[in-house]
Order: sequence, then structure tokens, then C-alpha cells
Amino acid sequence: MDCYKFLRTTTTQRYDLIFADPPYNDCIEEEWDNQWEDDNQYLDWLEKRIEVFSKSLTESGNLIMYCKRQFHHKIKIIMDKYLIEQRSIIWVRRRMMDVTRGKTLASGYEPILWYSKSEDYYFNSEQAKVPPKQHLQHRSEYQKGGRLEKGVGLTDAWTDISALPHNSKEKTIHPTQKPSKLSKRILKIFSEKGSRVFIPFAGSGSEILACIFLDRTWDATEINQNYCKLIKSRLKEAQKSIFSWLDNGEDKG
Ligand SMILES: C[S@@+](CC[C@H](N)C(=O)[O-])C[C@H]1O[C@@H](n2cnc3c(N)ncnc32)[C@H](O)[C@@H]1O
Repeated sequence: MDCYKFLRTTTTQRYDLIFADPPYNDCIEEEWDNQWEDDNQYLDWLEKRIEVFSKSLTESGNLIMYCKRQFHHKIKIIMDKYLIEQRSIIWVRRRMMDVTRGKTLASGYEPILWYSKSEDYYFNSEQAKVPPKQHLQHRSEYQKGGRLEKGVGLTDAWTDISALPHNSKEKTIHPTQKPSKLSKRILKIFSEKGSRVFIPFAGSGSEILACIFLDRTWDATEINQNYCKLIKSRLKEAQKSIFSWLDNGEDKG
């Protein structure tokens, strides 16, 4: 189902986090990424959805949205009309998304926009930490529980999670599937356990699975029936592994 239609006609729910990975426009050779005659038509389509996303957030809610590098500034201008900008996170994917031709640099990153409904937004600073570099781990304050005990602050340039290689165990047929590690990081920082998350462009279901593993409640939409089937089968598999964790008494973290 179209996410716009779902939010306008099917639910009155407000969400603590909207976690959006919309079509990039003319990046992937699939119908869903080539629905528009030109860039302006794409941006109008996206604006309609951003507006309804902004109305569907709780007062402390966040909107996280991936976008194609070429549209970064234009999408920010649209988002500024409806929400408050917090940061553009630069995800250094390591694997290129678009083929680079001619006299230019290869593209190695993807922007992730973080906007909030108000200045009273949810942000878990304890989760926005990474282990210190190896040489720091030997410093006494790290070992004794000083300032560095739980790690060092994560910056807005994420270089430690790469895009999925084709031979990755978690890779599905979806061409723009995001790594589960990335989805989990975003959920842990921008939402809390038990909060409500909306995933408007579910794709292969990566963000849904991360919600299940991390105990967030979720609603999701996806227009492509093949991907809906894929999501269902991934959910079945996930259920099996959750039951085996429970049987073994393991933590899902
Ligand atoms: C960039 S992909 C999302 C990939 C996803 N994050 C993952 O990790 O698998 C965008 C998805 O949005 C879906 N889509 C396109 N237009 C949509 C709409 N109006 N409402 C809901 N889903 C839509 C496409 O079919 C595509 O699977």
C-alpha cells in the first residue's frame, strides 16, 4: 500500500519515529525507482509524503530519511518547511551506489537526514557511542570506568558500517537493502523500547526486522507485492530465531 494513502486514510496513529528509505529516483533499474517524468515531479511526490509524515509524528518524534546525494540539498529545503533540522548524517557506504562515469569523483557516501518535530526530541546519547580505538582501550580511564567507560561519542560521519556485499548472508533480492546493523543503530539512538515506529518504504523489511529484534512496535507500507512476500518470509524466519534465542535465554541486543 502507498504510505501516503495509509497515513491519510487508514490510521490516526502518531509515531515516535518515522524511518524512511524512499525511492532514490532514477538510480535503480526498477519500475518503483522510475515513476516520475522529471526531478521536479519526484520532489513534489516526496514533499506530499514528507508533509504527511510531519503531521504523523509525536511531539518528541524524529524523522530519519535516506536520500540520494544529488537531491540532498533540495530535500532539505522541503523538509525545513515542515520539521526542525537536527543533522545530516554522512553514511560512508564503502560500496558505490551509482555508477560513476566521466570526469568526476566516485560516490562513496549516502546522506541520512535527521529532523525532529520539536526541540524536545528523543535522543539516546548512551546509544550514540562506539568503542574507542584500540590504543585508547588500554588507557586506565577506559578500563577503570572513567569518562571513556562506555565508549566515545559517535560523530555524524558513520564510517564503520558498510553497504551489504552481494555475498552477504543477510542479502536478499532487494537492490537497495540496508544492513541490519545500520537499522539497529538508528532505532537505538532515535527511539526507545516500546515506542511506535512507522516504516513507509519497507522494501525487503530490514527496518521492520530491526524493530522486532529491538522491541519497537511498528507499522509499515510497501507497494511492491513481490517485496511484501519477501518481507513475510523474512518475518517467519525471524520468528524462528527469536524463539531459539528465548529457548537459549540469550539477549537480543
Ligand atoms: C529504497 S527502497 C527501501 C529499501 C529498504 N530500506 C530495505 O532495506 O530493504 C524503497 C522501497 O519503497 C517502495 N515504494 C515505492 N513507492 C512507494 C509508496 N508510495 N509507498 C510505499 N512503498 C513504496 C519500493 O517498492 C521500494 O521497495
